[in-house]
Amino acid sequence: MTGDAYYIDGVRVPIGRAKDTGYYAQTRADDMAVRSIRALLERNPTVPPSRIDDVAWAATAQVGDQGLTLGRSLAILAGLGKEVPGYAIDRMCAGAVTAIVNSANAIRVGAQDLVLAGGVEHMGGHPMASEVDPNPRFLSDKLVDPSALVMGNTAENLHDHHPEIARERCDEYALQSQERTGKAQANGIFDTHVVPMTVRSPDGWRVVDVDEHPRPGTSMQDLQKLESPFRPGGFVTAGNAAGLNDGAGGVLLASQAAVDEFGLTPRMKMVDYAFVGLEPETMGFGPVPATEKLLARNGLDIGDLDVIDMNEAFAVQCVAFLDHFGLPLDSDHVNPYGGAIAMGHPLAFSGARMAMQIATYLERNPEAQRGLNTMCVGLGMGAAVLWERA
Ligand SMILES: CC(C)(COP(=O)(O)OP(=O)(O)OC[C@H]1O[C@@H](n2cnc3c(N)ncnc32)[C@H](O)[C@@H]1OP(=O)(O)O)[C@@H](O)C(=O)NCCC(=O)NCCS
Repeated sequence: MTGDAYYIDGVRVPIGRAKDTGYYAQTRADDMAVRSIRALLERNPTVPPSRIDDVAWAATAQVGDQGLTLGRSLAILAGLGKEVPGYAIDRMCAGAVTAIVNSANAIRVGAQDLVLAGGVEHMGGHPMASEVDPNPRFLSDKLVDPSALVMGNTAENLHDHHPEIARERCDEYALQSQERTGKAQANGIFDTHVVPMTVRSPDGWRVVDVDEHPRPGTSMQDLQKLESPFRPGGFVTAGNAAGLNDGAGGVLLASQAAVDEFGLTPRMKMVDYAFVGLEPETMGFGPVPATEKLLARNGLDIGDLDVIDMNEAFAVQCVAFLDHFGLPLDSDHVNPYGGAIAMGHPLAFSGARMAMQIATYLERNPEAQRGLNTMCVGLGMGAAVLWERA
């Protein structure tokens, strides 16, 4: 039997800063993911945990507390029952996006009915690229430019390719991200996504219940003072780049049969998706060809999208996307709740947060029908997912 795959619900723990003083400095990555899975199932009590057909969970660093075949370890740790299988996924920043579309596909071909799909990244415990050993041939055979291996450098490269994107526009975009995230926070947008988590801190146990990364008081003057850590005189700064963060969360996807059997409410269905490859040294441009491919295949135009939630790895990459599609910097349907510049970007987890935000936008805007998630991915990839109100 084949059919649609529906998004039912999504849950995440608050995003922390990947610092010694950050929320999760003394908390394991797998425990963060377990907290989100348990909360997701508590919120959907008609679903017997043992009926989950698979747990697809992403992490970029698949070692230590993010190793041991995450999906399966999380199924056991979350007490889903030994019948519940799981697997681990890595497509760097698009880890959770890949977990979600693979899981939706398993439902669409009729192989599975209920799947948990998400991601975790504890960048404090697993600093970016610290646990990998890139093949020397990447550089010796000039397969990629050396700058391709440091994401901030790829963002500086994007500025070189798009000299019309001035530093000032990137700082303006970053400021808008902070303002929109602050407003969304105040309007309770994240209240249905975020569950509190008890964490250990130097002063004992405490409960964290709100994202740690946003800087609501940010001003344009603050942003303009910051210097690029990536290149002398560069344009990419701590203020207009996504942060280094710890986060975890995932979504519950279901078939029509599971919706009927367990009385679930489908919020949106996954229509289609696209992944593309492009020059690794300007990976930030990935959302453009990914979105174009997805729109073309579905006979749609950018104007047919009611909401776009784009990962904000770097402001320059977001501005390049907006410029390409002729959208103004302050398009109110593009990242209406801000994004990773304010909220933080725990790599493989972020795609799950973005799906939750499309679901909430559709819920709060009854006239909206279609939403797109898109993100750039390290080593030169782009990802895009098309959702439609169920
Ligand atoms: C740019 C980068 C190196 C900065 O790292 P960092 O120095 O740890 O960043 P922080 O968030 O601690 O900010 C450093 C300082 O900048 C300033 N700053 C940052 N954001 C600011 C803002 N919005 N307003 C004012 N000041 C700000 C602050 O002084 C801050 O220090 P403080 O926290 O002690 O006040 C890091 O965020 C990075 O690499 N980002 C990209 C991540 C990435 O590549 N992800 C993958 C994408 S594909």
